[in-house]
Amino acid sequence: MKFFNNMSIENHMLHLNGHSVKDLAESYGTPLYVLDTDYIKTKCNELKQHFKHPSLETEILYASKAFSSKAMYELVNELGLSLDVVSGGELYTAKASNFPMDRVYMHGNNKSFAEIQMALDSGVHRIIVDNLMELEYLQSLNRPVDILIRINPGIEAHTHEYIQTANDDSKFGISFDSYDLSSAIDICQSSDTVTLHGFHCHIGSQIHEASSFEKTASVMLDQIKLLEHKYSLNITELNLGGGFGVYYSKDQPITDYGFLTDLLNQCSAYISKQNLKIKKMMIEPGRLLVANAGSTIYQVGFTKTTASGKNYVFVDGGMTDNIRPALYQAEYEACIGNKADLDNDKLYTIAGKCCESGDILIKDILLPQADQEDYLVIASTGAYGYSMASHYNRLPKPAVIMIENGQPKVAIKRETYQDLIQYDL
Ligand code: LLP
Repeated sequence: MKFFNNMSIENHMLHLNGHSVKDLAESYGTPLYVLDTDYIKTKCNELKQHFKHPSLETEILYASKAFSSKAMYELVNELGLSLDVVSGGELYTAKASNFPMDRVYMHGNNKSFAEIQMALDSGVHRIIVDNLMELEYLQSLNRPVDILIRINPGIEAHTHEYIQTANDDSKFGISFDSYDLSSAIDICQSSDTVTLHGFHCHIGSQIHEASSFEKTASVMLDQIKLLEHKYSLNITELNLGGGFGVYYSKDQPITDYGFLTDLLNQCSAYISKQNLKIKKMMIEPGRLLVANAGSTIYQVGFTKTTASGKNYVFVDGGMTDNIRPALYQAEYEACIGNKADLDNDKLYTIAGKCCESGDILIKDILLPQADQEDYLVIASTGAYGYSMASHYNRLPKPAVIMIENGQPKVAIKRETYQDLIQYDL
């Protein structure tokens, strides 16, 4: 396993931000998500350094679907980022954490009328309109609405098909050369209440190739140029979405986000050459800020060797706290936290406790001999772990702790059995 800078080993014991995984497990229970706040801060500052430009205003939105909680929103606010929310629930959480609504962008391909009303009443900065019907509805409300339109730029990114979002038949956005887009622009142009400020796109997630983002930017700018000529629009904002790939396992590259500066240079050159009115460029990373900040500590229960010789380690969580291996064949690295520097000489499969054959967290990993009550630590679980967690088999959701300056703090409490039945009648 790759040991990140916040990890150290003393007497064979893995420490996360100076705390032994044994102490963390004993204090907070297992499974336990541990998030390194200082890592998030560092990543955010790095990103700010890369995503800035002398002649373009820039804004970084945290795509909060990656990990959403009041504590996370408070941190995002403190770091000065803006926020992408995609549902009434995320918006409600943002409000509950006192996040400034003038830095909130409301996404969603099927916002309910109630969610739209909540967003407008809350004073969110922009509604990102996904489709023509949504725009018609916004127009019918006859109240001021500031929007970006989500475009499907028709770019197939190199990533798992479930997390591609801009192939031709994607459910997200409107294609440039479509009747729906010209109708949408007509509505905006004749509207006294709906103001179109710009366009948004997002081509998918866990994308490592800078060239995919460069291609997206160039398609978006070319098309904006055509639209400006055709309709004399006033497009001042362009949001290129998120999707920046991170390290999970050794087959994956470590992306250098320095390419974002080149991307801005490329956009700025095009904007001045073509006299476009774009003033502000945005990105909205989720995973990049939190994935590598997180680890999950599990406790090993039983182990088993099948008749054909396959060695299983069973842990006290599974697909309920990390659905990504089952859903996207996502690969992770792990170690036995209390044997972190022992030889990895035995081949294991790490399985969860759910009643589902697909509940495998890691297929084929070399570890030291695993014993009952060992701590198994899976790295890089900070994104789309807790936020996609479920109650399958009525497993309570684990706690999340965030460690800042060496101080652990509970960000989300562990659920109890009582919590599980609280809505049962
Ligand atoms: N913006 C929009 C409009 C998005 O739909 C997403 C992710 C993001 C930004 C942030 O993408 P990120 O930077 O985190 O890759 N559950 C999947 C990922 C689904 C992403 C959905 N949209 C996973 O666990 O890999």
